[in-house]
Amino acid sequence: MSIAAPEPKANMGQPVPRYDAVPKVTGQAAYAADVPLFNPAYAYLVTSSIAKGRIDHFDLTEAKAVSGVIDVFTYENAERLKDIELFSKGGYASTTIQPLKSAEVEHDGEIVAVVVADSIEAAAEAAHRVKVDYALSAVTPTASFDSPGTTSARAQGQSALFNEDPSVGDFAAAFDQAEVKLTASYETPTQHHNPMELFATSCVWHGDRLTIYEPSQYVYGLKNGVAAQLGIGADKVRVINAYVGGAFGSKGSVTPRTAIIASIARKLDRPVKLVATRDQGFTIATYRAETRHDIQIGATADGKLTALRHEGTEISSRADPYVVGGTKTTTRIYACPNVASLVTIVRADRNTPGFMRSPPEVPYMFALESAMDELAVKLKMDPIELRRINDTAKEPIGGKPYTSRSLMACFDEGAKAFGWSERSPEPRSMSDGDWRIGYGCATTCYPTQMGPAAARVHLQRDGHARVEIAGHELGTGAYTVIAQAAAERLAIPFENVSVAIGDSDLPPAPVAGGSNSTASTCSTVMMVCDRIRQRLFKALMPNESSETVGRAQSNQGVDLERAFDALGVNAIEEFGEWKPDDAPKDSFEAMYKGHVRLVGGPGLKDRMAYAFGAEFVEVRVNRRTGEIRAPRLLGAFACGRIMNPRTARSQLMGGLIWGMSSALLEATELDARYARYVNDNLADYLLPVNADAPSVEVILLSEEDHQIDPAGAKGLGELGNVGTNAAVCNAIHHATGKRIRKLPVRIENLLA
Ligand code: MOS
Repeated sequence: MSIAAPEPKANMGQPVPRYDAVPKVTGQAAYAADVPLFNPAYAYLVTSSIAKGRIDHFDLTEAKAVSGVIDVFTYENAERLKDIELFSKGGYASTTIQPLKSAEVEHDGEIVAVVVADSIEAAAEAAHRVKVDYALSAVTPTASFDSPGTTSARAQGQSALFNEDPSVGDFAAAFDQAEVKLTASYETPTQHHNPMELFATSCVWHGDRLTIYEPSQYVYGLKNGVAAQLGIGADKVRVINAYVGGAFGSKGSVTPRTAIIASIARKLDRPVKLVATRDQGFTIATYRAETRHDIQIGATADGKLTALRHEGTEISSRADPYVVGGTKTTTRIYACPNVASLVTIVRADRNTPGFMRSPPEVPYMFALESAMDELAVKLKMDPIELRRINDTAKEPIGGKPYTSRSLMACFDEGAKAFGWSERSPEPRSMSDGDWRIGYGCATTCYPTQMGPAAARVHLQRDGHARVEIAGHELGTGAYTVIAQAAAERLAIPFENVSVAIGDSDLPPAPVAGGSNSTASTCSTVMMVCDRIRQRLFKALMPNESSETVGRAQSNQGVDLERAFDALGVNAIEEFGEWKPDDAPKDSFEAMYKGHVRLVGGPGLKDRMAYAFGAEFVEVRVNRRTGEIRAPRLLGAFACGRIMNPRTARSQLMGGLIWGMSSALLEATELDARYARYVNDNLADYLLPVNADAPSVEVILLSEEDHQIDPAGAKGLGELGNVGTNAAVCNAIHHATGKRIRKLPVRIENLLA
């Protein structure tokens, strides 16, 4: 065991090394753009340099003169694709803005032309020679909240993702009468996922069949969505990606590029390969939109919350009402009898935003957990004690109990390991030479979500098994935990299990989003493996009652040779479909059509399904220069059954680092005059390096939850980076006495 492979505690699996470790570290793992194609043509995108207006005229003479250019596609000659609905409205699409459809330009960086050539160099050269004349809109594009010309409306009901503004009791009266009151506003910036693997797509036709090699978090969604756009049957489309080089939500829905490339490949009767550039990724896919929050909290003098109001405002595009709506979480996390909330969407001339790691909780918990710290300061109370006083086994809006909730256990273990007791509570009271020291903490939580899935398991007489399920390996450890789940249930060694995922020809699994993958895929695979065991035991015990067989099945090892002799075969296969409690009636049908039917979090009928954690940050702020460092990040997490402490730790560690980064570094800067992203590259879009996170500690608590899902696992992929941004700001307040309510925190915020 090592730090990277923590000793498993009760209810944890073994920290086996990753199933895909060797192919990855030896460079054998083939990502979408690595898959060799026969005689491909190369596509290169041309994107708009205006945010609002019309294309007046293309001059393609110079572009077409570049040696090796095959053709240039614009709205004037591209195939008309069929419209598909937005993902968050129950469809497939990341945006309903479909480029190459008309002369209209709806956001900066929209695809306006695609150059195809015999080499990527020729395509790039020609793309830079495409001349586009625009007729600017008479109306100036609107960039963000304070731009003139935006429109806004209540979010509720505009998106399938957000159908309530939770409230209970009488907030106004309770706040009015509260002994202690806090009113504060918070702001989070635009951010982009920037996964290492770029937005690549290769399309190959074999007759009327299309194969797409593209990094995707949802191969069934991509297959069905692109088929609908092309007007062909979904059975004619296959999506393959054995590995995805990071996604974080950006590869969960169908972006416009895929069907465009597929239609060009069909027209040219030749494979076409696209690797969009880093800067194009900022506008041809999705991002985390900026948010604003107004929080009001009323409390008794001894710290009990009596009133809470959370109003959130989010940016979306003119075309689409994308919303994250984190009030569904923030109104339910602490005991409070009087709660009000409201979420508003503001429309601007931007590309449509979308899912980005922990979409609702990262911005909304920043506001709530900053406010809780401010309240603790007002009450002269330890911030952990404030959370303890308001801890609850039932959410306050509907009174539903949490299936399990180890929040305070996380705070206690985290505080001990962090050395919280050495913190002197007064701001500006701890220092080391020129460095002011601050300790901050915050709650993290993330809904446990699950979706219907199907799997096929093949077991051979020699004790080798193959598991097939169209899950997704985003770098999270999906192969590994699926293989572990099968090995456990079949009682065979991990090394004997081979796993096939990332292929839409396999049985369907949900989108690898909302941290549902482990719960959904492992629950399904375990169920199918159990059916295999059942068949083996029935064959071995033909004359016993099903009760006796069932007992043996759950308690005994199986002699495979004898069982297969009894069956008279050398291999058996089982296929099965699983769906979580409360899943809608059309779940299985929808699953094959690439529609997501996730349930969980606050959405279950009679219970609340959440994972929890406590996060601690030490900051050091230089008293002369204002430089901010975060020498220590620590998180203690409880997530039900931990399938693999090594891959779990890795997810949570990455989350902590990203959470810190989202407080101190990351922001996409907007030029409000042109509604344009300015720092659309990895040099100017600040990201942490090793030296920015010298110490990151992850503590995994034992937790058992028998109500959550058959695997007993809560999602943890997105848990780590929730709350960290608040913990950083709370630590900065402790160090400096300055409360920063707008992210990211910059040196200049601390010099004034
Ligand atoms: Mo995650 S933003 O649900 O991929």
